[in-house]
Amino acid sequence: MRIALHAMPGNEATADRLAQALAAAGHAAHSCTCGIHRFPDGESLVTVDAGQANAETEAVVVCTLDKPDAKTVPLLQASATLRELGARRVGLLAPYLPYMRQDARFAPGQAISARVYARLLSDHFDWLLTVDPHLHRIRNLGEVYAIPAQALSAAPLLAEWIGRNVDAPLIIGPDEESAQWAEAVAQRANAPVLVLRKTRLGDQAVRVHLPDLAAWPNHTPVLVDDIISTGRTLLSAVEQLRRAGTPAPVCVAVHGLCAGNALPSLLAAGATRVVCTNSIAHGGTPIDLTSLMADGVQSMLART
Ligand code: R5P
Repeated sequence: MRIALHAMPGNEATADRLAQALAAAGHAAHSCTCGIHRFPDGESLVTVDAGQANAETEAVVVCTLDKPDAKTVPLLQASATLRELGARRVGLLAPYLPYMRQDARFAPGQAISARVYARLLSDHFDWLLTVDPHLHRIRNLGEVYAIPAQALSAAPLLAEWIGRNVDAPLIIGPDEESAQWAEAVAQRANAPVLVLRKTRLGDQAVRVHLPDLAAWPNHTPVLVDDIISTGRTLLSAVEQLRRAGTPAPVCVAVHGLCAGNALPSLLAAGATRVVCTNSIAHGGTPIDLTSLMADGVQSMLART
């Protein structure tokens, strides 16, 4: 069975790396691109590689879904078109899966967008593979996705990076929701772990509460979270750690959405490094998800 990795714009390098990893594992894998034409009135028109859409080829659309609203309509066009052109199955590899944080109605009339978005993708794809979605009140993807949906964990890769780059790390999750990531990373890095408490006052205003750190003298604080969005959660933690007189902290996250000036603010506040995976492209030397995702694609194709 051949595998075609259809890269939505911006995902070409990810699809190329995956095709190479899958080819090295013995698969006939190719990457190709989906083009988007944007009309002056704001509509979009997607063109897929028709030569790669047939019943003998597994179609995998590769699209990380930061800034999801603009990406979603083209994504659905791609999936529908691949199917119309003969693809038997169309899967979605979304290294970053959006909308998972709105997993409840926090005020009357609010949408539970995690459910709405899950229904939309479930209607258009045969399976979904992603990395560390923000699972909180929704405990697993199967609660909201009606298709086979697998969440890969980047914790081993984060732990490996910390082991190579930080002496005597003290892993710190900046809020209760980060406990699952911080604890998984700490266990693999064989390091102590602390989980802080956070009060969110608004989209851009949070305060984390730092306990006494006297039990960990000479440890380097490593803040671990799943997402850096505005960066305010980690910023509050970095500021308080610096005020408490700890060594300069390191920030490690799976998904660097990094809106606005998130990155420079963290560095200016005293973080020595801010490291994310390449689920979302940005500068620096990211933690590479290719082998994790290539293994995930193989197991998803074997299981579905
Ligand atoms: C939510 O609990 C997540 O785990 C992150 O802590 C949050 O999304 C980070 O957002 P921000 O960078 O805007 O503070």
